[in-house]
Amino acid sequence: MSAADTAAAWWAERSDLAGRVAILTGGAGGLGEMMTLDLQANGCKVAIVDRDEAAIEAIRSELTTRGADFLIHVGDARDPDVLDALFAATAERWGRLDILVNIVGGTFKAPFEGSTPKAWDTLLRTNLMHVLHASSRAIPAIKAGGRGGSIINITTIEGYRAAPNFAVYSAAKAAVAQFTRSLSLELAPDGIRVNCVAPDLAPTPGMKKISAGVENSMNYELGQQVAIPMGRTGTMTDISDVVVFLASGLSKYITGSTLHPDGGTFTSAGWFNWPGDGYGNTLPMDVMRYLEQRGE
Ligand SMILES: NC(=O)c1ccc[n+]([C@@H]2O[C@H](COP(=O)([O-])OP(=O)(O)OC[C@H]3O[C@@H](n4cnc5c(N)ncnc54)[C@H](O)[C@@H]3O)[C@@H](O)[C@H]2O)c1
Repeated sequence: MSAADTAAAWWAERSDLAGRVAILTGGAGGLGEMMTLDLQANGCKVAIVDRDEAAIEAIRSELTTRGADFLIHVGDARDPDVLDALFAATAERWGRLDILVNIVGGTFKAPFEGSTPKAWDTLLRTNLMHVLHASSRAIPAIKAGGRGGSIINITTIEGYRAAPNFAVYSAAKAAVAQFTRSLSLELAPDGIRVNCVAPDLAPTPGMKKISAGVENSMNYELGQQVAIPMGRTGTMTDISDVVVFLASGLSKYITGSTLHPDGGTFTSAGWFNWPGDGYGNTLPMDVMRYLEQRGE
């Protein structure tokens, strides 16, 4: 056996993903697209719900080209009836469920003061309630198989630190993290693991709507180097690789945890890597002098 064959056999045995059935909410576009394609590449049968018809057609075409076994539902994952239809179709097609990835989420930038209950409700339904609805349907389906399973909730760095102008989003994602911890203990005896993945900035169409204009700034790259210890924003695979790990047998003893694919931002907690000055938790002297000269 070649070294490559040995490595492939090791991966296949330890990851134990082939033949598993995964449901992904928001699995057609943004980070969800990569997660769906990566789980499928590892032998999973994938069922997704998404509301972006262009993204759905693109992933349908890719999965068909791959000869994948898949299901796609078009609809709003926040609607319990849409989830019921997806879980029922998954059970009918494959008669099992092993993995749930709750990807749907999103926000907009606005101070809390002046925001409306209607906006809070939208943020809570998008970022918290759909996780509860999807999990409540997944748990009996996974338990019925008696093989255990994995529920993965995509949160965000903003659920673990303060997020001014994103207060309700931040609160909803923090609630998901705490829900994850509690649920992980309830389900541990059944071998069902529940974990979170908390990215920082990973450019996607959804994220670009929030940061519109910022990435055109001349100092965008420099800003990333200062704010992110590893010096760059996340890629789709940076995040998806962690989801594959948590779905796989390689993480079979991890539950109730959050993994942070964020280049070190969460850990940095207010420390910035200023070019020329190195790490500091306040402004470097030349920036202070510049501000003084401007009279600020
Ligand atoms: N991209 C980032 O930088 C980043 C950073 C931190 C956390 N996150 C989290 O990761 C997750 C995915 O983020 P993204 O940037 O890929 O988002 P996105 O807006 O690109 O959405 C991902 C997919 O979900 C679908 N979707 C959104 N709402 C839906 C709904 N109600 N019903 C059905 N489908 C829906 C979209 O159509 C898209 O295909 C979110 O929970 C987000 O909070 C993203």
